Amino acid sequence: MDNPFYSGTVAVIGLGYIGLPTAVVLASRGVSVIGVDVNPVTVERVARGEIPFFEPDLATSLSGAVALGNISTSMEIPVADAYIIAVPTPITPNEEADMSHVFAVAEALAPQLRPGAIVVLESTSPPGTTEELSRTLAAARPDLTFPNDVNDSPDIFIAHCPERVLPGRLMVEMVENNRVIGGLTPECAERAAELYRVFCRGEIQLSDATSAEMAKLAENSYRDVNIAYANELSMICDKLGLDVWEIVKMANHHPRVNILQPGPGVGGHCIAVDPWFLVGAAPEEAVLIRTARMVNDAKPHHVVSQVLKSARRFRDPVVACLGLSYKANVDDTRESPAIEIVAALAQQEPSMTILVSDPMLSKLPSALQGFSNLQFVKTHEAVAAADIVALLVDHNQFRTLPRKLLEGKVVMDTRGIWR
Ligand SMILES: NC(=O)c1ccc[n+]([C@@H]2O[C@H](COP(=O)([O-])OP(=O)(O)OC[C@H]3O[C@@H](n4cnc5c(N)ncnc54)[C@H](O)[C@@H]3O)[C@@H](O)[C@H]2O)c1
Repeated sequence: MDNPFYSGTVAVIGLGYIGLPTAVVLASRGVSVIGVDVNPVTVERVARGEIPFFEPDLATSLSGAVALGNISTSMEIPVADAYIIAVPTPITPNEEADMSHVFAVAEALAPQLRPGAIVVLESTSPPGTTEELSRTLAAARPDLTFPNDVNDSPDIFIAHCPERVLPGRLMVEMVENNRVIGGLTPECAERAAELYRVFCRGEIQLSDATSAEMAKLAENSYRDVNIAYANELSMICDKLGLDVWEIVKMANHHPRVNILQPGPGVGGHCIAVDPWFLVGAAPEEAVLIRTARMVNDAKPHHVVSQVLKSARRFRDPVVACLGLSYKANVDDTRESPAIEIVAALAQQEPSMTILVSDPMLSKLPSALQGFSNLQFVKTHEAVAAADIVALLVDHNQFRTLPRKLLEGKVVMDTRGIWR
């Protein structure tokens, strides 16, 4: 075998949407992988070859890797040749980066480090985090040399490799996407790249760690700013009584214009979160990025007020809210604007009956439990009983809904799929 990592052990720390597919693609290429998570349910399920969340093709690949004996799980960080850290990096209620999970990993990882080990931070992080991670590990292990304190080859190699995969296509994009790998030294980048070349067929661009962190944040902030433009247009069009979808379609006929489609807001734990890391890193300079975040955060409130305005026409309004996940065809509800909209409607209008449907979910998420005016029902049932139908997520199942069912109802299509 030419690749040294076929014989090395890789510990993937954090078995979520990023860590588990990464562990599985490595294991399915013959690498010995130990998946580590603090959640005992996840650890047990993965060990049995069961996926803890839905993602196309993940179940088959995981059960194959488990059957081959290439993947095991643990709640403790083991001694390994390489470590990939893929734990959450959310924001606090004050929109500051919460790096507690990454540094909790650093504390547990430090005692296990052996000379030659590679540590790759995959979690999306504010600029400078990988350097700080290295300093933290170095402080805990004065017996080893780290890249930020030696000029020649250190004992431990540290890099940042941000992730660009799209949920719903994780197993394809994990392999096909181009990647950036930023090392604390060029040798760190090259060592980490050797590991990723085991499964990555995309181009691997090598850089320094802080530039790699910054590139990831620049990508997601770019998306957020462009979505904010579309969302702001949609609110202007609502005010002027214009059809935003028609306006965007016409404007996009310009050869150098490509306006994105508006929506109910921005969700998920990436685009709705990562731009705040840039705002935190340079508060004075990140004016546009902060404003875009505020525009996108305001969009769910706009949808709520539009629904409430329409509801005034009915004595006992029944509203069907279709979709709860943060985007189409996934069961991930993190930071979902749809949930924010449904919760605000249930709270602000207790006399309104709200029928919620999401074919990707089996029950109401915890944030929506306990509202007496809210029920989780099948899509046809919700639509049939509703005066107002608010489409909040463009799941495929909603695209094919017979238009006849919508006749005579007030339709608020926040994704423009029923035009
Ligand atoms: N999901 C995506 O589409 C996506 C895309 C690009 C980047 N990212 C980034 O990747 C990182 C991971 O995101 P995710 O979506 O996989 O998160 P996730 O919440 O799905 O999974 C994280 C896992 O880490 C575990 N964990 C938390 N603390 C731990 C600890 N101290 N030790 C071991 N395990 C621990 C959790 O139990 C969970 O299973 C984040 O920084 C995120 O921003 C995610």
